[in-house]
Amino acid sequence: MSRRKTVSHPLCARLYVKQSQAAETRGLADQRRRMLAGLAGEVVEIGAGNGLNFARYPQAVTLVHAFEPDPYLRERAARAADAAAVPVKLGDAAAEDLPLEDASVDSAVTSLVLCSVSEPRRAIAELHRVLRPGGELRFNEHVVSKRPVGRALQRTADATIWPTLSGGCHLARDTRTALEDGGFGIELVERFVFRVSALDPPKTHILGVARRL
Ligand SMILES: C[S@@+](CC[C@H](N)C(=O)[O-])C[C@H]1O[C@@H](n2cnc3c(N)ncnc32)[C@H](O)[C@@H]1O
Repeated sequence: MSRRKTVSHPLCARLYVKQSQAAETRGLADQRRRMLAGLAGEVVEIGAGNGLNFARYPQAVTLVHAFEPDPYLRERAARAADAAAVPVKLGDAAAEDLPLEDASVDSAVTSLVLCSVSEPRRAIAELHRVLRPGGELRFNEHVVSKRPVGRALQRTADATIWPTLSGGCHLARDTRTALEDGGFGIELVERFVFRVSALDPPKTHILGVARRL
């Protein structure tokens, strides 16, 4: 049975909108461009935030089913959807319960979201369900460090203050393994360190393409 999940972090959402502008100029805009290049057909985007991907979808995309559960961010995303060059249908849904039919979309996008959802494996199972067999998942996610000390610090932060300070974000998630366990084959992956500001911890990102097996 479906449970309605509430996601609302009014203060963190406002900070994200401010911080995200700076992040775009520091390299995130280019990451978005690389993540979305070559997409076509119908796409689902989970946790769309303030809609910063919308303007970067290629013309071959016929419809973006974008979902954002936080009301403040969804309102910003609605403005970005109106300004986008491709059609964007914006809805209120958590990644763990997508209101889409099985195998109904060609591609999926997850951009800095699987760190924040409360049940990442359930969100990945939903992406697997709504993607057609062979469909692509494009991702840009920060993940657990490979260095033992970094990993230990991330786990401590996740177990204490970090999720509260950052609207539910977790630093130590092994998203690549979770995708593989969830029935996706990783086809391309870039790994790099990205830091939004001096106040933000440096984070290892994985950006790439996975295919629904
Ligand atoms: C760091 S922001 C990233 C926003 C956007 N994807 C981007 O690339 O800028 C994390 C996003 O995950 C969303 N989020 C948190 N929990 C979620 C859930 N259970 N399902 C879907 N989105 C969720 C937040 O509301 C927020 O929009």
